[in-house]
Amino acid sequence: WGILGHATVAQIASNYLTAQAKTYVAGLLGPGVTMPSISSYADDYRYTTAGKFSAPYHFIDAEDNPPSACSVDLNRDCGAGGCVVSAIANYTQRVNDGRRTLANRKQALEFLIHFIGDITQPLHDEAEALGGNQIAVTWQGNPTNLHATWDTQMVEQDAGGGNTTAVLMAFAAKLEAAIDTGAYASQKASWVQCSNVATASTCALQWAQDANAYNCQYVLKANETGQELSGSYYTGAKPIIEIQIAKAGYRLAAWINALAAAA
Ligand code: ADE
Ligand code: ZN
Ligand code: ZN
Repeated sequence: WGILGHATVAQIASNYLTAQAKTYVAGLLGPGVTMPSISSYADDYRYTTAGKFSAPYHFIDAEDNPPSACSVDLNRDCGAGGCVVSAIANYTQRVNDGRRTLANRKQALEFLIHFIGDITQPLHDEAEALGGNQIAVTWQGNPTNLHATWDTQMVEQDAGGGNTTAVLMAFAAKLEAAIDTGAYASQKASWVQCSNVATASTCALQWAQDANAYNCQYVLKANETGQELSGSYYTGAKPIIEIQIAKAGYRLAAWINALAAAA
């Protein structure tokens, strides 16, 4: 996801934290540092010399065959340099490792806040055309690529245009209402069914498989190359974007609640 997507995930999560988890987060991030404000730190870091190693941690390149066959296999798809599944597992372990420095544990939490967002973006669980980065499309007449429309353009359109704090807060509030009493109320428990931080790799693999399935159902189904995506393609994508961002926020809260309880 882009900046707005990650900030929305983090904002939603911050509203489902236990009191214990709020204290835990403040202790690691620092007093007054909000989760949305650091939610794209991992994207800045990956482009620095020191942070280059972390670039593969944002995705898993599932070598499947969408749209006819979708699957994620950890041995097949998680490269030697790591992937989003192994990164979630490793940083889940590190964040509560008392032998590590506070700075190291803080970075682990910043990474988790970001990667638990990225893993719900279907194209972050897909190798095809570099996760859609190599599929040229247009958005409102401007050339872009399929991956970027899912990360950014369609999220901003759905949230109401642009990437301001007001847009972010309204989008998060709308998705929280759906979680609390709306369309997601009856299914949110299934989103956090896997919540054992001691078996993080198992949970993260399930999350990757869940998101990857959308590539066969919709994301890569329409032979998008050269298409203008702001019309009917966007209309079909909108509910997927909303459920995946809501899911990431709700899961992130459950994950941090469990980490705080285990610390
Ligand atoms: N780079 C290579 N594969 C990618 C993917 N699936 N998502 C984002 N960036 C990538
Ligand atoms: Zn992306
Ligand atoms: Zn990312």
